[in-house]
Amino acid sequence: MIISRVILKNWKNFKDVDISLRDRVFVVGPNASGKSNFLDVFRFLRDIAKPGGGLQKAVTDRGGISKIRCLAARTFPDVEIEIHFSEYGESMPAFRYSIGIKQETRGYRLPYLTHEKVWSGNDLILDRPDKDDKKDRERLIQTHLEQINANKGFREINKYLENIVYLHLLPQLLKHPSSFTGPDLPGDPFGKGFLDRISKVNDKTRKAWLRKIETALKVAVPQFKEFNYTEESGRPHLEAVYDHWRPKAGKQREDQFSDGTLRLIGLLWSLQEGDSLLLLEEPELSLNGAIVSKIPALIYNLQKPRKRQIILTSHSTDLLNDRGISLDEILLLEPTHEGTLIKPTSNIPEIRAMMDGGISPGAAILPRTKPRNINQLTLF
Ligand SMILES: Nc1ncnc2c1ncn2[C@@H]1O[C@H](COP(=O)(O)OP(=O)(O)O)[C@@H](O)[C@H]1O
Ligand SMILES: [Mg+2]
Repeated sequence: MIISRVILKNWKNFKDVDISLRDRVFVVGPNASGKSNFLDVFRFLRDIAKPGGGLQKAVTDRGGISKIRCLAARTFPDVEIEIHFSEYGESMPAFRYSIGIKQETRGYRLPYLTHEKVWSGNDLILDRPDKDDKKDRERLIQTHLEQINANKGFREINKYLENIVYLHLLPQLLKHPSSFTGPDLPGDPFGKGFLDRISKVNDKTRKAWLRKIETALKVAVPQFKEFNYTEESGRPHLEAVYDHWRPKAGKQREDQFSDGTLRLIGLLWSLQEGDSLLLLEEPELSLNGAIVSKIPALIYNLQKPRKRQIILTSHSTDLLNDRGISLDEILLLEPTHEGTLIKPTSNIPEIRAMMDGGISPGAAILPRTKPRNINQLTLF
């Protein structure tokens, strides 16, 4: 299954969005245009659906409704999210899920549902507030998505949302997890517990996935020879062997890997893990341009057998220059006074004309994401 359409009202810097999604989506736009906020819609739904999560926690973790609701919204409207799920390669949605959220004006000022609806095909199978909700308004502070005994008819979408993965691997966190104390973040977005994730996979699968990564690293990283998983005093580690004139000196642990190597390992691992939606934040960071230019093909090859959807944000011309990317896979974010707009680049005539003239997607699209007065930056 993939998420084939997203409709947003008043979600962070998106006042009004209705956009179709392909199985591979590239989100581009200026700094602070809302790329991460767009990915956060899916993380938000995951945080509602997962065990130990729920609506209240998902909202609190984001600093409350006032942080979520669009600043450009008119007086007290609700935040609304609707997503459509389709089978891979089909356009008719198998399910639709829609919620509206508002904050109580009195008492504990908790977020509550103004509606929660689920359609299976064309049948409306959940329509809240229902008569039980009307008798007991307290019920509206929880979604049925988060309740095992209430989501039986749409468990499939609960499972899908629960398993969404977001990755924005920060190499320093992975290298020195004990230096970064404090509670772990939900879903481990920055890869602090990445080694633990590797350790939890069964031996056979882990070996197979690491061999694939090894093959890629041999191509991407000079002198790279071998890649292994080890455990020492119960702690998981990654170990690489490099060609070196002193044979013993060629071994390195993850804390000595380069940032780019670690990010590439994180990317390649995550692509193989699971079959729910994968959200990748700027996978080009710390990587050489030649490697970045191969990321779209890598994703295509690894996602195809699993029929898995991937949405990534990027600022990289190298990445978008891949000729295999079609314009309707690239979404361009355009900030306006009335919130950010999201447009498929295939709907922008100038970009299509440039592509017809032989210009690559990266060169046609990314210049539109640079600040208008960029030259003034040097005046400091
Ligand atoms: N509730 C909100 N209403 C309007 N804008 C918001 C809201 N919350 C965050 N923003 C804006 O969103 C921007 C950050 O978006 P972000 O997704 O981090 O950008 P990007 O990832 O594209 O760099 C900031 O400019 C911030 O002011
Ligand atoms: Mg961002």
